[in-house]
This record gives sequence, structure tokens and C-alpha cells, in this order.
Amino acid sequence: MTRTTESSTKSDGTLGDILRRVADYLEWELAEGRSSLLTTPPTAALLKRWPAARRQSPAPSSSRPQPPTPPAAPPPAPTATPEERGAALERIAREAEACRRCPLLATRRHAVPGQGCLTPDIMFVGEAPGEEEDLQGAPFVGAAGQLLTRMIESMGYTREQVFIANVLKCRPPQNRTPLPEEVQNCLPYLREQIRTLRPKVLVTLGGVPTRALLGLTAGITQVRGQWRSFEGIPLMPTFHPSYLLRQPSAKREAWEDLKAVLARLGRTPPPRRNLAPPDRRSAPA
Ligand code: URA
Repeated sequence: MTRTTESSTKSDGTLGDILRRVADYLEWELAEGRSSLLTTPPTAALLKRWPAARRQSPAPSSSRPQPPTPPAAPPPAPTATPEERGAALERIAREAEACRRCPLLATRRHAVPGQGCLTPDIMFVGEAPGEEEDLQGAPFVGAAGQLLTRMIESMGYTREQVFIANVLKCRPPQNRTPLPEEVQNCLPYLREQIRTLRPKVLVTLGGVPTRALLGLTAGITQVRGQWRSFEGIPLMPTFHPSYLLRQPSAKREAWEDLKAVLARLGRTPPPRRNLAPPDRRSAPA
């Protein structure tokens, strides 16, 4: 099922509107065949309060937009300690590991839930594990991962200071593009990771995670470099490192996107240690 575009998901911010969107979202999950949701403790607490809120502000079903839209931002989890976040992430990882929602379980060696900092400024989201990631059970450890590491370091961070995850937690055979149903089956794990971590900024790498999180149908070239948001978290779509390996000339644009992320975080890139040749000086080599 195709989700609505960014322009049609604008909220007027009233409680009634927020409630209607959450109800629409849950109906959409049901229509997709899912009868339960992964929840973090803060989300579970929010859901406990839900019936009372719904009685106070019912949304007339006739005014509901079609097709359903993603929910408005749940409240951040400022009280979640790193320990609580770690426990929540481990639970999500265990559930992804045991997941039987699609046949990828039969062909993958390891699930690759994601790894990194529990209080990250930035969360990078890729598409799906490749061969090396499938072998090691860790995200972005192959050739594209080496470039992602250089991109992160060019921003003045280490891999351990950010969080790295994928939309799919299992490798598709021959690294083929994830099928829409695989994306929809696996997306709840990523959503819960994001709700648990509440990074200051999300960076989506390529079209698959960008479309999955924003409910767009657009290609990455149409949206890269433009600020969007996922559940209230600023989201910057940029090119996937695999694409940058094939199209090095696009690194300049990707670097502009990453500099915009740094500016949003009030940071500037550190001085380059290994300067690229003069014509490539402004982008990670
Ligand atoms: N490509 C991705 O999208 N994710 C990985 O983890 C590795 C390669």
C-alpha cells in the first residue's frame, strides 16, 4: 500500500487532528494484516492513556482523510535512561532475530538490527544488510560501510557516537531491492528503534529508507537535501553510500546534505586531515 506524500500529511496540531491521525494509522496497520505493535515503555504508557483521550476528543469518521496517514509525533522519552534504551533496543533486536513475518529468515545468516550510541545526535538509516553485514550481524561493514564511516568521520563523529540501522533487518537474496511487503513487515522494528532513541536528526541513505519513513513515492534525487520530519524528528534524505561509490561526482551533493545536518546540530565540520585532490576538496573522498 502506498503511503501519502509529505504535502498531504500536514497536521493542524489540534488534539482532535492528532487523535484522528493515530486512529488512521492503527487502522492502516490492521489493514496491512498486523494485529499487534512493538512498543517502548513510553509508547505503552501513552497507549494506556489513549481511551480517555479518545472520549474527550472524538474524530468524526466522515472527516478522516483517505488514505490513512502516519501518526503525529509521540512525546519524546526524556526519562528513558541509556539503560532503558539499551534494554528496549535489545528487546527489538531479539524480536527481529525471531521474526517470521517474511521468507528472508530462510536465506539470511544473521539478522542485523543496528548498532551505535544510545543517545545519538544522528541516526543513519540504510536499506538492508548486504553480504558482509549478513555474515557479521552488523550494519554497514562492507564497502559501502567503509564510505559511510568516512562520511561520519568527516562530520566530526565516530561510528560509536551515532546510531546506524536499516529498514530491513535481514538480507534480501543477492542484495536485491527490498519488496514493498518486506519493507512494511520490517518497518515496525525501525520505527520502535527511532522512538526509543529519539535522535536529534535522522539521515536516510537512499530512496528505500526515505520512502519508507516518509511515505513518499518520490525518488531520492527529488528529495535529497530537503529537510523533512519523521514523528517530529528532523530528517535529511541523502544519497546511499553504494550509489556514491558508483557515482563519485554525487559526493559533493551528499556532503552538502551532511553539512546541513551539522548546521542543524550547531556544529561545523572539523578540519580535513587527508585532503582530497583540489577538485574534490569539499567532499569526503
Ligand atoms: N547497505 C545498506 O543499506 N545497509 C547496510 O547495512 C549495508 C549496505
